Amino acid sequence: MTSTMQTPIHEKKPSISHAKGSKLYTTDNRMLIDLCSGFGSVFLGHCHPAISNSIATQLTSSWSIGRENSPILESAHAAVKRIIPRRFSLAGFYSTGMEASEYALRLAAAITGRNSFIGFRHSMHGKSVICANLCWENTVIQVSNTQMLPYSDIASDDEILSRLEATLKSHSIAALVVEPIQGTNNCWGTSASTLDEIVLLCHKYGTLCIFDEILTGLFRTGKSFICADLGSTPDILLFAKSIGNGFPSSAVAVDSKLPDASSALPGSTFSDNPLAASAIASTLALMATLPMSNLIADIEKTIQHILTPITDENIILRGQGALWAIEFKSSKQLKQTYEKIVKENIMVSVTSNSLRLLPCATIQQSDLAFACNTITDAIPYNK
Ligand SMILES: Cc1ncc(COP(=O)(O)O)c(C=O)c1O
Repeated sequence: MTSTMQTPIHEKKPSISHAKGSKLYTTDNRMLIDLCSGFGSVFLGHCHPAISNSIATQLTSSWSIGRENSPILESAHAAVKRIIPRRFSLAGFYSTGMEASEYALRLAAAITGRNSFIGFRHSMHGKSVICANLCWENTVIQVSNTQMLPYSDIASDDEILSRLEATLKSHSIAALVVEPIQGTNNCWGTSASTLDEIVLLCHKYGTLCIFDEILTGLFRTGKSFICADLGSTPDILLFAKSIGNGFPSSAVAVDSKLPDASSALPGSTFSDNPLAASAIASTLALMATLPMSNLIADIEKTIQHILTPITDENIILRGQGALWAIEFKSSKQLKQTYEKIVKENIMVSVTSNSLRLLPCATIQQSDLAFACNTITDAIPYNK
């Protein structure tokens, strides 16, 4: 399994004094180009004034009011409504991706009256017990009502679909959860037509299909949501990370045609809190003013142009938009490359066998090109 948790590199981390745009500034006066962006959450750049000002205003108004309504919460709801595919309605705001995933499973159980779940191996849905059991091997606590199926890193599209249908035939599965592009597993993804088939198969057997767009949602791949472009609609849509531009926030949206099961969605201490709502409302308002698809197309072009030449049988570049993995066959080569680029003041997220590039949408093209060229130069020849 690949995961940021199993990083073989134990570098001394730089201490960050502050961050601005796509730069991190260290306490020893270095400036780093940030291609990690808070694990993909700071999509519009660190401390963007429009978002910082909104949160600062809210700081003097209210922080935590126990899920009561407030004007800022209404603004956040309205902003989400404007951006999610029309068939969905917002079911709730939470703080982390894990919470959103967990609550979506709970909702699916309440709606279907079933309590088994399936996920695709090597995905990431969060680190709660049930989420972990839907995507990782050797979880510390095993539960009996989950199963993992193979995804595109280890199976062809036909195998994915046939294994899925064989499992759904039991008519006991409440929900399938799918991360359309496995951002923590070297950006493996499948075709739009296979994703369509996955949704249709779920519907054929009365299983709800949950799309985990916690990382891919809100333009990370260039589309508002991957599911927005499919012919069929999943039942539940999860999104987080970019929604608060780094302020802890997540969301669960459901197909409006589903029966109301809101009683299955509990609150938590910080769900719907006004500070998160101000981050969400201001982030989405800013996003609406930016040419998001064009910005992401430019990022994709630069990354492909500069990094495609480094690929060979030992190094694979995989991804799209502003979500990429450089997968290394040799851990020594990965380690040497990573250590060198950190010394050259480039920050990336690193997994057990890859460098993961998650630039913010607003990164300067010159900074991105410089970072990609630095990565290119850092790869040692002695493979
Ligand atoms: C696709 C996906 N789902 C869920 C999660 C879990 O989110 P969180 O770490 O906020 O619980 C992540 C985190 O990286 C993710 O990438």
